[in-house]
Amino acid sequence: ITETTLQKDMPFAMGAAVNVSLLKGNSNYRNLVIKEFNSVTPENAMKFASVHPSKDTYTWTDADYLVDFAKANGKRVHGHTLNWYKSLPDWVNNFQGTTADWENLLKTHIQTVVGHFKGKVISWDVVNEAINDDGTLRNSIWVQKLGADYIGRAFQYAHEADPDALLFYNDYGHEFGPTKRTAILNLVTSLKAKGIPIDGIGLQMHTRVTQTDANLAAAINTAAATGLKIHISELDIALNPDNVQTMTYTTALADQQAEKYKVIVKAYNAIPKSQQFGITTWNVTDGDSWIPSNYSRPDWPLPFDAQYQRKAAYQGILDGV
Ligand code: XIL
Repeated sequence: ITETTLQKDMPFAMGAAVNVSLLKGNSNYRNLVIKEFNSVTPENAMKFASVHPSKDTYTWTDADYLVDFAKANGKRVHGHTLNWYKSLPDWVNNFQGTTADWENLLKTHIQTVVGHFKGKVISWDVVNEAINDDGTLRNSIWVQKLGADYIGRAFQYAHEADPDALLFYNDYGHEFGPTKRTAILNLVTSLKAKGIPIDGIGLQMHTRVTQTDANLAAAINTAAATGLKIHISELDIALNPDNVQTMTYTTALADQQAEKYKVIVKAYNAIPKSQQFGITTWNVTDGDSWIPSNYSRPDWPLPFDAQYQRKAAYQGILDGV
């Protein structure tokens, strides 16, 4: 009898956002990634500030480590992210230049990073989080310096550097309701209509146990209706979205979370196979989740606990297919 694993028993790719320090230094963590997942996304190692800390310096050490790990263990690498308004180094935030200088900065960064990983990273989140929650275009440094059309050019630059890479627009909040997701879907549809090389939509899906099943299904189904590939790219399900500092983990909460994972997987499993790029959780266990540190609260958002054991949520994922 072979033991169940996500990578073996799920009908689409199963990934995790991976922290390179833990991969290097923690064998429990590393072995769990090797065992359960067949896709990896660098949590931070390919972000602008990580790979391009000064104008003429690129630092590939951690990102290359992840790519080598993936190759040695037969995992796909999804690149994250070529363009974002966060995780920028000071030199970019402080950069003084003409519009042409900014365009060159954008193009050079994208093409150097995509070129470095050509043939090793099969897909990219090209632009991350360009839309506000109210559906307007985020007034990021990129929009301020280059205008709204830089988004399409970012995809073109990435495509020039690696014509085989699958290119995604990645954002959160499709499940909030129609306002934000309509703006996102209008953006990607208009890019597609202009002939911009975009292959897919990343639904981050940093969600919460109180989110309705209807909103979760609508997020997935409306995105799939574009015909593009769909990646649930950063899935986690918060149990403590209201930041209650005294909150404790209970069996009841674990079971509600398992049910919510199942609802998401079930909706995803129902879209056409050809559009299923896979599901990636944001981090591996409750012990390495970004949520407790980022939001300063206790939480347990993932399918594994801090002792690397499977939670009810793990079975919830399996039960969704
Ligand atoms: C987060 C990382 O998990 C943190 O370690 C880092 O401090 C900030 O970024 N949306 C994204 C991810 O697209 O890149 C973010 O990752 C989480 C939200």
